[in-house]
Amino acid sequence: MQLVLTKNIDGGGKRVDFAAYARSGGYEAVRKVVGKLAPADVVQVVADSGLAGCGGGGFPTGRKWQAMPSRAARPGPRYFIVNADEMEPGTFKDRYLMEGDPHQLLEGIVLAAYAVEADEAYIFVRGEYFQAIAALEAAIAEAQAAGVLGGLTIHVHAGVGRYICGEETALLNSLEGKRAIPRAKPPLPQVSGLFGCPTIVNNVETVCNVPHIVRHGAEWFRGLGVGDEAGTKIFGVSGRVNRPGVYELPMGTSLRVLIEEFAGGMRDGFQLRAVLPGGASTGFLGVEKLDTPMSVAGMAAAGSRLGTGNVMVLDDKTCPVGFIRNLQHFFAQESCGWCAPCRDGLPWVDQILAAMETGQGRQSDLAVLADMPGRMGPGKTFCGLAPGAMASLETGLKMFAQDFTRHVQERVCAWA
Ligand SMILES: Cc1cc2nc3c(=O)[nH]c(=O)nc-3n(C[C@H](O)[C@H](O)[C@H](O)COP(=O)(O)O)c2cc1C
Repeated sequence: MQLVLTKNIDGGGKRVDFAAYARSGGYEAVRKVVGKLAPADVVQVVADSGLAGCGGGGFPTGRKWQAMPSRAARPGPRYFIVNADEMEPGTFKDRYLMEGDPHQLLEGIVLAAYAVEADEAYIFVRGEYFQAIAALEAAIAEAQAAGVLGGLTIHVHAGVGRYICGEETALLNSLEGKRAIPRAKPPLPQVSGLFGCPTIVNNVETVCNVPHIVRHGAEWFRGLGVGDEAGTKIFGVSGRVNRPGVYELPMGTSLRVLIEEFAGGMRDGFQLRAVLPGGASTGFLGVEKLDTPMSVAGMAAAGSRLGTGNVMVLDDKTCPVGFIRNLQHFFAQESCGWCAPCRDGLPWVDQILAAMETGQGRQSDLAVLADMPGRMGPGKTFCGLAPGAMASLETGLKMFAQDFTRHVQERVCAWA
């Protein structure tokens, strides 16, 4: 397996500055297209590349951009927003991209804003990402001085630590100074987004792919994947592996190659029991699924989701009930309270799991837990927060049924 390096990741606190970025071909794509290619042609290149959104949904980026009404059809302000909220537990890829190579993101923003004819851009960044914020601000100053932003204003907006702000419509409310609750869709943000104007929201990693696609072409990008899906993907691995971290690999790389070759396999004394393949909002896969390709279709066929592509590894010495409780506690805390199933259901799940962990669980609780995904699954709530939370609960209840039963019957956590 060869590591394909199309994006420079430097997690060591060092930032690729303007001079270094320009030396490696940085801002060439901007010079190649801005004022030379029609915006719609740039959208077409991105559509042809097969780039899929890296924020968790995997939606085709070109199709999203094509849904933006033309300037002639909708005169007035238009916005391009980078979603850099990254509060999903176990997901830490965007942080590396911003801290290590902020110009790559800026170049992607300039190209994307040109393609969708946006006048202004915002980077909505997680407030605790101090180093990323500093790196972005320094890079914007350098890019302005070098004249490569072409008059585009890029605002860095630090959030104040709510997971719901990563949901794109709650993000829009937050940017407008309103309470961060999701909006009804339709209308889509492309039609009525920030301040009611046409708006595109894309994830950091999605945008970082754009300069490379524009520079090397759609065919080149398509060819980087090892299966049917295009490009490279920044996968992350956390848990008791030898080398936790982020790895940029071809889309479609198997879970096994990622965990065993790149993350160095399990630490001595630990065995892999299951994984959440795409962050905290995806369902568990067992060891028998390790040869599944890490792609949108591959993970769906295996019964989970690619999500953010950041794998959380569960080992044989960690209590799965406690692991799931930890996640549910996070989701319960982060519910914005806007819709009742999420506001009331998630704390209930959290309380039941906390009771089980301390030997207070009852047999009847198992039926209550099993009933929850049907009440908070896809389509039952206003946004994707609770359905995401239900993924690990629903699959975990089946995969670790014996562990749950033991907690209830023996009234103790065997791992405590
Ligand atoms: C509760 C919740 C939190 C989310 N958090 C993030 C986030 O931190 N970053 C992100 O890019 N997308 C996040 N998303 C997905 C966004 O709503 C949206 O789909 C994404 O920004 C689109 O970008 P993409 O098409 O480039 O993937 C979240 C979704 C939900 C439901």
